[in-house]
Amino acid sequence: MSKILFPNQFEYLQKSLSANDRLTNKMVQYARQNNIPILDPLSSEFLEQLVYIHNPKKVLEIGTAIAYSTIRISKILKKTSFIDTIELSKDNIKLAKSYIKKAKQESKINILEGNALDILPKIKKKYDFIFLDADKEDYIELFNLSINLLKKGGLYLIDNLLWQGYTASKKVPQKYKTSTSHIRKFNKIFLECSMLKKTILPIGDGLGLGIKI
Ligand SMILES: C[S@@+](CC[C@H](N)C(=O)[O-])C[C@H]1O[C@@H](n2cnc3c(N)ncnc32)[C@H](O)[C@@H]1O
Repeated sequence: MSKILFPNQFEYLQKSLSANDRLTNKMVQYARQNNIPILDPLSSEFLEQLVYIHNPKKVLEIGTAIAYSTIRISKILKKTSFIDTIELSKDNIKLAKSYIKKAKQESKINILEGNALDILPKIKKKYDFIFLDADKEDYIELFNLSINLLKKGGLYLIDNLLWQGYTASKKVPQKYKTSTSHIRKFNKIFLECSMLKKTILPIGDGLGLGIKI
């Protein structure tokens, strides 16, 4: 249940969602059962819309998990476009590879295996679209390492910036104090970044959207 929207608004929007295909449903079920955080449905729809509108040739994702968002992006991409996606967990990489194969998206998805903090400084290409969805304590460093990889006019999307409502809340449970503090510090950097025209949207868990200017 969202702590960002009123419950009735959240329920209303959930009902507005279009039906997923079988594989996507299976991935959502697997992620839920195994406590793997993946992009929520409303954010996923929005992500797909952005990919449709922007039609990126080169996409970079930081945080693949089981490749749920990767596959959703890849399915929208044109045949000659591709997505590089970085993941450090060996278990998640194994699952991601198997789901990518089942989704028949191998030709458009490259998994970069390892820590994005090590991989990003070695990347030479520039991207039209970057999606950041990794560990919150590394958001600032990952953002700083990747912003220069985004082309002018490119889109930068970041998940979890309203962090279940705690980012804007005065009362934060002990369990969420550290992560909320990381997100607040990140948001300040993101919102002050002069390279981007940016905003935070109350979609899903809060999406940061920036356009490189
Ligand atoms: C929230 S999940 C990604 C969900 C995925 N984007 C989706 O919506 O389907 C975050 C993933 O990032 C990975 N991760 C976290 N920090 C990372 C880093 N520094 N380098 C590479 N992967 C990282 C975690 O192992 C985890 O699988």
